Amino acid sequence: MKQKLIAGNWKMNGSIEANDALVRAVVAGLAESRCLAAVCVPAPYLAQVQVLRHGSRLELGAQDLSAHEQGAYTGEVSAAMLKEFGVRYVIVGHSERRQYHGETDDLVAEKARIALAHGITPIVCLGETMAEREAGQTEAVVKRQLAAVIHTNGHCISEIAVAYEPVWAIGTGKTATPEQAQQVHAVLRAQLHAATPQSDRVHILYGGSMNAANARSLLSQPDIDGGLIGGASLKSADFLQIISAAS
Ligand code: G3P
Repeated sequence: MKQKLIAGNWKMNGSIEANDALVRAVVAGLAESRCLAAVCVPAPYLAQVQVLRHGSRLELGAQDLSAHEQGAYTGEVSAAMLKEFGVRYVIVGHSERRQYHGETDDLVAEKARIALAHGITPIVCLGETMAEREAGQTEAVVKRQLAAVIHTNGHCISEIAVAYEPVWAIGTGKTATPEQAQQVHAVLRAQLHAATPQSDRVHILYGGSMNAANARSLLSQPDIDGGLIGGASLKSADFLQIISAAS
């Protein structure tokens, strides 16, 4: 039975002072947990959090990376740069980047490839909008998004992580029910199993208003291997309660 993974996505939040208090509290609270834990922080804070997590089980993650190895790409951050800060995970294809930065399925797949090539685990985000769900398109959308990643990374697809994040649940407090989430996770697991016999190695995380109150019921589902946590990861007590529910 693989350990569950709880990853915090700080999004564009934090400060040197707030990060110090948050990470120290999370590191201190991790001692008795038995799940994997990570915080995906804004790039300017990678060095600070690398130092604060040193010697702990808290892994460091990033929120995006360039689809290029290096060069004239102003403002972008490469996989090699992330690696220099001990980054273990990188979120790719978050719905906010797909929405605000026009990230396509193929670009997300290429970002996952570059992460894997540098020994960083991509957390590939996918999910449907409310309009797509109401149109009965949920399965088609998430399978299309995952198919692009499998097409580019089929030979090592068991090395990725996936986050099912229904767009309508992100930051809204409207969490998918455990049954709704499990239904999509099972579809993703089956699609991964068709691509690799090692599909059980893949962490399929749920993201979208997971919090201390609903984490245990979501994490009890057979194909929910953890969570990608936004707002609740900014409060150490809430984040640690979710980690405890995953342990
Ligand atoms: O990447 C995780 C994020 O999209 C979920 O946000 O605030 O709904 O937990 P939140």
